[in-house]
Amino acid sequence: MKIAVLPGDGIGTEIVAEAVKVLNVLDLKFEMETALVGGAAFDAHGHPLPEATLKLAMDSDAVLFGAVGDWKYDTLDRPLRPEQAILGLRKNMGLFANFRPAICYEQLVGASSLKPELISGLDILIIRELTGDIYFGQPRGRRVATDGHFPGAEEAFDTMRYSKPEIERIAHVAFQAARKRKAAGFEGRVTSVDKANVLETFQFWKDVVSEVGKEYPDIALDHMYVDNAAMQLVKEPKRFDVVVTGNMFGDILSDEASMLTGSIGMLPSASLNSKNQGLYEPSHGSAPDIAGKGVANPLATILSAAMMLRFSLNQAAAADRIEAAVQQVLAQGLRTGDIYSEGTTKVGTAQMGDAVVKALR
Ligand code: IPM
Ligand code: MG
Repeated sequence: MKIAVLPGDGIGTEIVAEAVKVLNVLDLKFEMETALVGGAAFDAHGHPLPEATLKLAMDSDAVLFGAVGDWKYDTLDRPLRPEQAILGLRKNMGLFANFRPAICYEQLVGASSLKPELISGLDILIIRELTGDIYFGQPRGRRVATDGHFPGAEEAFDTMRYSKPEIERIAHVAFQAARKRKAAGFEGRVTSVDKANVLETFQFWKDVVSEVGKEYPDIALDHMYVDNAAMQLVKEPKRFDVVVTGNMFGDILSDEASMLTGSIGMLPSASLNSKNQGLYEPSHGSAPDIAGKGVANPLATILSAAMMLRFSLNQAAAADRIEAAVQQVLAQGLRTGDIYSEGTTKVGTAQMGDAVVKALR
């Protein structure tokens, strides 16, 4: 089992170190190789996704990824910005299916800004299409004024685009996930989120998802506009089971959903291709404002490592053990700053990782 470890920037190095610690106490044989990515790779090699890093990722069974980005790179040409590393990995590896489960652990009900009764027992799955949409549409660019009056660009544009096979394959992923969840006692419902009332791309999305849905008569399908979905997520989040949507809406809604769990520091993610090769990363970013301080929450990354064991490495039992260990440290009252509430014990990044290791042992 070969794992490419790509910590990246900001808090990425700190949180990935804790996940690696956790992996190392399992009685499993991994080959782990670390490489630079994002701003760190730009600083060292002049490119956010060096050829060697991409090759390592492509040749591995799974990638454990931290986060990329820092404000200091904001003035670079877009192809050289840290974010292009994660987008390049997703595109080159064909990681079209992004799973972002939002689960509210009972111990964290009080850490959310929402009323406890709204989120207690919450367990929903957001499935975000990850290699299409406006993120990867062509053409894109800026138009420069021609009358000489305005120096520089006058307008900018990106193109929203989805092909039928792209929508079909993510729809199948969503229906199959809902079927699996139904077998485990969930409702068996897919909510497809679109903006069909305004955008042609998302009328098409809706039509194709409906068509695929006919192959899954055991699964309920409903459609929701993205603005309404944003509202329903905070109004009545437990009405959802599996949510499937495009790249852009999925980016936004998954950040929103993370707060239903208490903190974005809790939200893991898996990005899979058709060969079950996967990239596993916390849903949060590099948080340069708290980088190097040892206060970041490593649990999203540790839980991402559990998803990696389950989805790409065929080690479901080890994944269960990690998830149980995380529950245990939460039950012990240990909290990083982002999930701290009165009466609990505030710990740093490494202490949290150590506690998970101890619980595993
Ligand atoms: C995410 C992030 C990325 C995205 C950025 C870092 C490119 O926000 O994984 O959600 O927009 O997909
Ligand atoms: Mg995002």
